[in-house]
Amino acid sequence: MPSSYNQIFENNRRWVAQRTATDPTFFDQLAQDQKPGWLWIGCADSRVPANEITGLDLGDLFVHRNIANLVPNTDLNSQSVIQYAVGTLGVDHVVVCGHYGCGGVKAAMQAADLGLLNPWLRNIRDVYRMHAAELNVIEDQTERTNRLVEFNVIEQCRNVLKMAVVQKRYLKAGTPEVHGWVYDLHDGLLKDLHVDTGALLEELRAIYALTPD
Ligand code: CO
Repeated sequence: MPSSYNQIFENNRRWVAQRTATDPTFFDQLAQDQKPGWLWIGCADSRVPANEITGLDLGDLFVHRNIANLVPNTDLNSQSVIQYAVGTLGVDHVVVCGHYGCGGVKAAMQAADLGLLNPWLRNIRDVYRMHAAELNVIEDQTERTNRLVEFNVIEQCRNVLKMAVVQKRYLKAGTPEVHGWVYDLHDGLLKDLHVDTGALLEELRAIYALTPD
């Protein structure tokens, strides 16, 4: 439902009034500090709002969103977010959340020159190539896209675990746990892909270890 420009400011004032009605110090308390327990890495898609889906409140969730929830190894933006969330804020959970029907994933499955988007979406093409044998035999286009969405989420979980800040803290403290989830636009439900952080890191460390054992 599109909102008019003025409507947004009206909405905002109403929201402030609601939040302070029961707790007049609500914003003062939040303004002091943040100590979120969760980092959310999700798609920029307008239909996948992190806080609303999870029911988490202001201050609970550190959020990074981009097209197709990617964590490219040379992307300073997502790398900085993870560095800060894990290394400084000390989140206990990192969620990579994709969604079925993702436009970025669909675009990466097409033979089309999308300009500046090409190198970004190439990360997804690389994931396809790793799993081409399994993906190519799925005849239904939607099913194939959705399977690639899942493979992409797992691959981005791997990319999170390749970072030194994540490896060091996990090996020392057993956190953060890294979770791979997929959101279904059709029913609003989250699916847990049951990523085993310890096992995934163990498997990666044969090649990607940044600290000695
Ligand atoms: Co998407």
